Amino acid sequence: MARKLKLTKSDRLYKEACQLIPGGVLGIRRPYNFVPGEYPIFFESGKGGRVIDVDGNEYIDMLCAYGPIIIGHREEEIDEAVIEQIRNKGFCFSLTQRTQNALAKKMRELIPCAEQSLFVKTGSDAATAAIRIARAYTSRSKVARCGYHGWHDWCVEVKAGIPQKLYEDVYEFHYNDLTSLEAIMSQHGSETAAIIITPIGHPLSAKVEEPKDGFLEGVKEIAERYGAVLIFDEIRSGFRVSLGGAQELYNVIPDLSLFGKAMGNGYPISAVVGKAEIMDVARDKVFISSTFFPNSLGQIAALKTIEIMERDKILTKVREKGSKFCVAVEEIVSASGIPCEFSGAPLMPFITFIKDKEQHYKELRNQFYTELIRRGLFLQPYHHGYIAYRHTDEDLKQATAAIADALAAIKNESIKQANHNSSSYRS
Ligand SMILES: Cc1ncc(COP(=O)(O)O)c(C=O)c1O
Repeated sequence: MARKLKLTKSDRLYKEACQLIPGGVLGIRRPYNFVPGEYPIFFESGKGGRVIDVDGNEYIDMLCAYGPIIIGHREEEIDEAVIEQIRNKGFCFSLTQRTQNALAKKMRELIPCAEQSLFVKTGSDAATAAIRIARAYTSRSKVARCGYHGWHDWCVEVKAGIPQKLYEDVYEFHYNDLTSLEAIMSQHGSETAAIIITPIGHPLSAKVEEPKDGFLEGVKEIAERYGAVLIFDEIRSGFRVSLGGAQELYNVIPDLSLFGKAMGNGYPISAVVGKAEIMDVARDKVFISSTFFPNSLGQIAALKTIEIMERDKILTKVREKGSKFCVAVEEIVSASGIPCEFSGAPLMPFITFIKDKEQHYKELRNQFYTELIRRGLFLQPYHHGYIAYRHTDEDLKQATAAIADALAAIKNESIKQANHNSSSYRS
């Protein structure tokens, strides 16, 4: 095994945090979402495609803050645009700044369904706003959903603290499975306000899936047949698979859509975009407002991020980098002799372990992700990774080598274990 990392300062800060913050750190950043004892818990800084933890260990960052980092950490042009706004104009006012209109025009220019936009701060905000708009537009209450849409009451998986009546109208269907959607709609279609789906399938811990031929078209046809609003949750796919999102890539245009994460290269900004006729209910029927929604820093960051993406053809280059990396990793994974699979090529790479009855896969998964972090590659065992523009050829070469070495190390370990078992059996 590679040598264990020194994580003394992370551990100390975590102990302190546990006295101050319930659980020490929030949700998906908690140690149990990695390999406890092996992963850092606090980062100090990041630059380009790399991050440094509080103990000074450096990693190639392929989790990219769970998606927002599409260009790279501390991207100077974007930070400068934000700093200029802070210094010269300010960003938190009782009225709206003109950046709103500029960003809405950009969204309309790039995203097929975006006749109108409204800007909020997180993916959860955008998903909840879109569901409220769809319910008001249709005067219906039920929702069919597929994918993760955030932490709000109507959709979060962990139900503690949420009265059942707040989610009982929400039904889940499976990605690439029209029958599961049809089953919901044939029973509840006339009362269904919205079908919301991530256009690329990325369930937690499971393989990333692209839509099968006709799947997204089929979802759209069902939505139209039952008069439900079709919402694409493009929080992960937006400004990543193409500037116009997965709707542009697959040429299936929803009624409404959500963007966030990569849109501002890390600054908090998200959007609901869609057909004017439907978005119009947000004019005088539904109430969507928050002290910080019009705060312009995220809008400035998004305008600059999008400008750079267009100017430097960032997404084409990210796709090229991702394709090269994923071809190499896919070969390594399939030749490894370890029961694991590769998915998510070319932009959301993920190595998952094939489930077995004895649940050895959990041990293999822990060993593998331990070997990776010890070799300086930051990924998460239950979540796919991402490619960023600032990942250099050298970063991706090192990441590929780390994956090959980690798989070889666990293969050796399992051979040693098998030899040990057979010799103890003989003796
Ligand atoms: C597809 C999708 N929708 C919505 C969300 C919620 O976004 P946020 O965490 O910004 O609230 C996420 C977050 O990971 C997501 O991946």
